[in-house]
Amino acid sequence: MTRIPLTRNPVPEAKAAAIRAAVAGATSLGPDSGASRLAALEDAAAFHEFLGDPQIHAPIYTLPRPLTVDSVRAFIADHVAQRERGTGLLFLTIDEQGRISGYSDLCIWPEWAAGELGGALHPDRQGQRRGVEGARQSFAWMFDTLGLDLICETASLDNHRTAHLLDGLGFSRMGEIVSQRADGTTRPSLVWEITREQWRKKHLLP
Ligand SMILES: CC(C)(COP(=O)(O)OP(=O)(O)OC[C@H]1O[C@@H](n2cnc3c(N)ncnc32)[C@H](O)[C@@H]1OP(=O)(O)O)[C@@H](O)C(=O)NCCC(=O)NCCS
Repeated sequence: MTRIPLTRNPVPEAKAAAIRAAVAGATSLGPDSGASRLAALEDAAAFHEFLGDPQIHAPIYTLPRPLTVDSVRAFIADHVAQRERGTGLLFLTIDEQGRISGYSDLCIWPEWAAGELGGALHPDRQGQRRGVEGARQSFAWMFDTLGLDLICETASLDNHRTAHLLDGLGFSRMGEIVSQRADGTTRPSLVWEITREQWRKKHLLP
């Protein structure tokens, strides 16, 4: 098993502390504060139902296994604790009818000013490039608002949509690793990284 990020540049403690504070203070992902909100323990049953579709959970190695209401509640509780420590965030996207239409799971390594974004859209919303645009905005927010210097992503070898998405947003392929799921099983993953400077050049960040 290989841990990510592959690139690890230690940052001064003041910078790491600023990232922890930004994570601990975050309440929504990206500029559109109406679209996403932090997951709360009361969301466990609805979030479990959302995740139940294999088109959502199958490609994602970071979700709890087995997927039960209790394991999803524990997953949310763990992210509440991660937010307090400044090392992780879990957001739900809610549609006009009040249903969960997507989620985003951020893992942050303040000591390396690095982060990872995972997540999924409801299958009704997949295949329309909404995920591409949502990911672009989320990555920009991670550099801009959280103050990261590096984003590292993984995808299973057959997750062509995610591969296309990351290649298209300017990420560099870093090779193949073995990722471990919550139940200890493993899967091969492709790894991508992008630095703040590479993102700025590609997306003209100020
Ligand atoms: C991954 C996900 C967020 C992508 O969002 P999306 O809006 O559905 O993405 P799309 O299918 O519209 O397209 C993404 C890109 O892949 C391309 N693509 C779609 N299907 C493809 C396929 N079978 N082979 C190759 N490329 C494909 C699209 O043309 C698009 O490329 P472009 O940006 O150059 O136009 C979304 O599909 C999802 O939630 N999937 C399930 C969970 C998951 O895999 N999460 C990521 C792992 S953490």
